[in-house]
Amino acid sequence: MKKIEIVIRPTKMEAVCSVLERNGYPGLMITEIQGHGKQKGLTQQWRGQEYKLTFLPKLKIEAVIKDKDIKAVLKEIRDSAFTGEIGDGKIFVSNVEDVVRIRTDERGESAL
Ligand SMILES: Nc1ncnc2c1ncn2[C@@H]1O[C@H](COP(=O)(O)OP(=O)(O)OP(=O)(O)O)[C@@H](O)[C@H]1O
Ligand SMILES: [Mg+2]
Repeated sequence: MKKIEIVIRPTKMEAVCSVLERNGYPGLMITEIQGHGKQKGLTQQWRGQEYKLTFLPKLKIEAVIKDKDIKAVLKEIRDSAFTGEIGDGKIFVSNVEDVVRIRTDERGESAL
């Protein structure tokens, strides 16, 4: 199993969640985060003054995915979150050893 941490524009939340749902992954976690990538935020002009926004609001969606689905899910998520502008976000992928459904004590993929 793989955990995907999807960092996206807040406006893309519904599109990304519906990709997960359609692929059989209703279980997920969402966190409102602030961060920056390689541009380190952005500089805005307001009333002749420059203001630097160091951290921009993003959403982080985490979900654990079966190995057999990961390739297709990554592609669909990328397509759904894409605008082509800087700041579209990232998807971090890591290995997951095991999952326990607390109610039933199911383990592994059947606990997802
Ligand atoms: N290397 C990283 N490690 C952890 N979080 C990151 C990393 N890069 C980006 N992020 C998170 O993802 C968010 C979006 O990053 P962003 O899309 O701006 O990345 P980027 O590398 O600057 O790419 P782009 O040039 O397309 O903007 C950041 O606000 C930050 O929260
Ligand atoms: Mg960036």
